[in-house]
Amino acid sequence: MNAPVKSLTGLDLRTEIDRLRKERNAVILAHYYQEPEIQDLADFVGDSLDLSRKAAATDADVIAFCGVRFMAEVAKILSPEKTVILPDMAAGCSLEDSCPPEQFAKFRAAHPDHIAITYINCSAAVKAHSDIIVTSSSAEQILAQLPMDQKIIFAPDKNLGAYFNRKTGRDMLLWPGACIVHEAFSETELLKLKAQYPGAPVAAHPECPAFILDHADQVGSTRAILEFALASPAETIIVATEPHIIHQMEKAAPHKHFIGAPGADGNCNCNMCPYMALNTMEKLYIALRDLEPRIELDEGLRAAAKRPLDRMLEMAAGTVGKGDVGKTKVTGD
Ligand code: 13P
Ligand code: SF4
Repeated sequence: MNAPVKSLTGLDLRTEIDRLRKERNAVILAHYYQEPEIQDLADFVGDSLDLSRKAAATDADVIAFCGVRFMAEVAKILSPEKTVILPDMAAGCSLEDSCPPEQFAKFRAAHPDHIAITYINCSAAVKAHSDIIVTSSSAEQILAQLPMDQKIIFAPDKNLGAYFNRKTGRDMLLWPGACIVHEAFSETELLKLKAQYPGAPVAAHPECPAFILDHADQVGSTRAILEFALASPAETIIVATEPHIIHQMEKAAPHKHFIGAPGADGNCNCNMCPYMALNTMEKLYIALRDLEPRIELDEGLRAAAKRPLDRMLEMAAGTVGKGDVGKTKVTGD
């Protein structure tokens, strides 16, 4: 039985997590949208592609995944012999929710001449119905390897798919899913902010709708946004993605001013990912202590979901980002 959370009162969680990490031979992987304390103690902080690669390459016994469930599932799919823990199993994703596997399978069956290129933000079951998985940082390179006349279903993010349609001149058939966080940005408020900070470049995630991306100077994955923000000569940068990534920016460039793009009322917290927020230091400590909650996958499903993920990792082999930004020492690899 797990000890109740209230017994944590007085514990130095950072020290306890460090102790358990060593005892368990665990690697702690964190996404840029996690709270600053978790980012700071993680062995590695990255975007979805970086985290997949780390999960595939680590020789740790335990992967403590501080991100959302589909990300931890990818770690288990790629490293089935490892124990993969997620601090809160309820940490889902609105994009995953927008694409139920049965409906996706029917949609695929209705378009037998199309291949399915699927964004990594989906369940293992949807991955199993897909031909190639992509992330926001690998999609362009992967699409460039496919003939222009190849018919493609792109799921589940309609904004990301539409962005790549515009960028590559393709006409992919888009599944109508969206991220609640990136859909919350307001064009009116963004324009007000740009007027207030003339010359401040906007860096945006491609999960944003076109009416936000149209005002962006840079569009890319979380890692690409971070790299842009640090490399830009501008003193003030407007960031249109989940604002916890600003922690890495402020650490690396404390002299610069990073401003999160606003939601409709100008200062709401609607652009914070409510799923990522479920992971806390306390829950990470408990997960390392109890090795629960644990990702478990049926072997048939795992093997079927692995095929399109392997294709992504092969086809994106040349996509070596300057992903060292925000990276700390990686134990276990
Ligand atoms: P990245 O691959 O850019 O880190 O995106 C993950 C994500 O969930 C964005 O909302
Ligand atoms: Fe999913 Fe959006 Fe949260 Fe990313 S920000 S994990 S796409 S809900």
